[in-house]
Amino acid sequence: MQHAPIIAPSILAADFSRLGEEIARISTADWVHVDIMDGHFVPNLSFGPDITATVRRLTDQPLDVHLMIEEPERWVERYAEAGAHTLIFHVEATEDHVGLAQKIRGLGVRAAFSLKPGTPIEPYLGDLEHFDEVLVMSVEPGFGGQSFMPEQLNKVRTLRHEIDARGLNTLIEIDGGISESTIARAAEAGCDAFVAGSAVYKAEDPAPMVESLRDLARR
Ligand code: DX5
Ligand code: ZN
Repeated sequence: MQHAPIIAPSILAADFSRLGEEIARISTADWVHVDIMDGHFVPNLSFGPDITATVRRLTDQPLDVHLMIEEPERWVERYAEAGAHTLIFHVEATEDHVGLAQKIRGLGVRAAFSLKPGTPIEPYLGDLEHFDEVLVMSVEPGFGGQSFMPEQLNKVRTLRHEIDARGLNTLIEIDGGISESTIARAAEAGCDAFVAGSAVYKAEDPAPMVESLRDLARR
């Protein structure tokens, strides 16, 4: 069953020189999305476990940590200690997605996987019971501010059908190009959670923008 819309602003689009204030500006958000990039899995570099732990101290909102890194199995303990609520790794970066999910759940953290736009969902449908969340990328991972790829919603529809048919609790999240003009389509396809970076942080006042996005997803 589709969950009430969860809005997860990405702090990648925030001004890092005043992170505390930037996080206070999204007080209406359900989760905070933390984008970790290693300069290898994606051609960009963001921050690591220390900044994640800093974010943890700045807010009580659950941290949805998106690992765009190689060898995620080497890092999950560090991010669990840093205070991740959910750890999302990329299936393209591991050979044992089920084993890694079990390791993450063993650390007391929700387990999730993500797929790049070119990666099909079908090979993973049989393993969904090991995951609390699936993150569908609707842009190539690596940078904020890119255009939404509507064809990725086919993956969302496939997932929605599978999750509902099997009565699973796995949430479907979407990431990339989510804004007031795209969120309704993503909600209609079956998404439960929505990452939004530039749409939230480019708004004059991010807090009401989060509420507006939630309203548009609910309709
Ligand atoms: C992209 C990141 C996204 C990004 C979203 O690699 O995973 O979370 O920050 O930014 P927008 O909403 O601007 O597309
Ligand atoms: Zn992300």
